[in-house]
Amino acid sequence: MRSTPKSRVAVLASGGGSNLQAMLDHFHALGAQASGEVALVASDRPAAGALRRAQGRGAATAHLARPADGAALLALLDEHAIDLVVLAGYLKLVPPAVVRRFRGRMLNVHPSLLPAFGGPGMYGLRVHQAVLDAGARVSGATVHFVSEEFDRGAIVAQWPVPVFEEDGPETLAARVLRVEHLLLPRVVELVAAELLVLDDDERVHGAFLTGAQGEAFILRESDSLATDIDAALAR
Ligand code: GRF
Repeated sequence: MRSTPKSRVAVLASGGGSNLQAMLDHFHALGAQASGEVALVASDRPAAGALRRAQGRGAATAHLARPADGAALLALLDEHAIDLVVLAGYLKLVPPAVVRRFRGRMLNVHPSLLPAFGGPGMYGLRVHQAVLDAGARVSGATVHFVSEEFDRGAIVAQWPVPVFEEDGPETLAARVLRVEHLLLPRVVELVAAELLVLDDDERVHGAFLTGAQGEAFILRESDSLATDIDAALAR
């Protein structure tokens, strides 16, 4: 049984919320052992599927009527005693005051291997179309700490997927989304457990989480990386 209280996680989402669902399911599966719990889901879009998914699980929900209003967002996060913020398909820029307050405690998931195919305007199918237009053979998912620029904060974890000749943006998006669902909840759990931390030089320390052969595995800094990678690939 855990003796410390769970980290209270706020999820900001603009869309359907399948990544939110993956987090809800992951924490639910871990039960009392989970280091975090989704305490609040907020969206700039009142009709976002993410809000419905949250209500289905009894999490508090909020509509962000003025997403650029940092004071309002901070007040909402304080009201719900939030420890950790996760951007899961959130399309608005988070106000700088909120980014500063949650430095090292705010994560984003992006559907490419950053720093490639990220930045302003790179969201949804545009990302995958750009990957296809570039002829890239590998794409994937990235989870990173949030900084004041879109998609530029310190990278925490990545999971590659192949790009096939017959792919269109939709098929590639579906393959990447599948690994987002595996990667994001595990990273959130590790950050909630303080096993992953951002230092003052914008470097991430702690467990390394990566994916291969359709399975997630976690490497600790103290482990022999080569041995662990060989073992993971052999499974
Ligand atoms: C995901 O591909 C995520 O990487 C991107 O937006 C999409 C959100 O999907 N930022 P969902 O709303 O979690 O289903």
